[in-house]
Amino acid sequence: MSFCAGCGEPLDVDVATCRLCGEINPTTEQVVAADADQIDPSILDKLGEWSHVKHEIIEKYAHAYMTVMAKQKFLRRVVYIDGFAGAGVATDRDTGALTLGSAMLAVQIQPPFDELHFVEADPAKVAALRQNTRDDLRVRVHEGDANLVLTNTILPRCRYEEYARALCLLDPYGLSVDWSVLNEIGHMRSVEIFFNFMVVSANRNVLWKRPDRVPPKRLALMHRVWGDGSWQEILYQRQEDLLGLTGPRKVPNEQVAEAYRQRLRDVAGFTYVPEPVPMKNTRGATVYYMFFASPDRVGASIGEAIFKAYRQ
Ligand SMILES: C[S@@+](CC[C@H](N)C(=O)[O-])C[C@H]1O[C@@H](n2cnc3c(N)ncnc32)[C@H](O)[C@@H]1O
Repeated sequence: MSFCAGCGEPLDVDVATCRLCGEINPTTEQVVAADADQIDPSILDKLGEWSHVKHEIIEKYAHAYMTVMAKQKFLRRVVYIDGFAGAGVATDRDTGALTLGSAMLAVQIQPPFDELHFVEADPAKVAALRQNTRDDLRVRVHEGDANLVLTNTILPRCRYEEYARALCLLDPYGLSVDWSVLNEIGHMRSVEIFFNFMVVSANRNVLWKRPDRVPPKRLALMHRVWGDGSWQEILYQRQEDLLGLTGPRKVPNEQVAEAYRQRLRDVAGFTYVPEPVPMKNTRGATVYYMFFASPDRVGASIGEAIFKAYRQ
């Protein structure tokens, strides 16, 4: 879905002229083409089918969120955070076509965010993102590790007591989001998140059939992502084999997601954490679970309504 830059109304599919105010908006192809000649395509993220679903969900929610927030006149600022922002443009894995990434989509949301903070660790993508957003004074691009930049620089701009609110996307490739960051955000009560829990990375790197063979470094990684060692009990169940011997067996992905949902609610303190959307590859295997977590009842009901349409 795209929105009119003039009045913020949703545009009809594939129609650039706004029905409401008549503004002629640039198409996605035009926005992408304007930047394409400046960027080395080899640095761009390759988006799978699920990424388009992810973008659709975020755009729909961000538009609804800003429609509500724009009416809250007591607020000093409404902030958008993309912790794993990419270059702003990406390529479609199947067609090779250039497409807008999550950061450039956020820039276009109407009503507009007051500030947008994009964090990216890869210097080449940082340069491309800076180039893509150079004319927008609301945007700040941070180079570095999202865990550190959020805690040290961005989250202090989003404090409830300072009448600030924020929507934050955490979209890593793997197990890169520290639990301490999610825990901090949950307790702030001013920030809503979309967070992609990479269950495929957890399975590949840590949640092995033989947990006794997992190297200490990987155990430590999972402790950091989960927040403590409780996952070793929660994500494995004792079972008896034919000889009556017991051995741990990893629980199914759905149970991993449910346990993580409970942690976001009961430990990190997000009041509302609806069931996540499983993002699947073409073979039907879940790559990651897209979580939404919110301190706010209105936000939660909008988020749940959007999620409901995408859960398979
Ligand atoms: C899945 S891609 C992001 C895609 C983007 N959100 C989109 O939808 O268009 C993850 C990005 O995170 C970056 N990255 C990896 N580790 C990071 C870290 N610790 N902090 C910030 N960015 C990181 C990668 O370079 C990559 O561009």
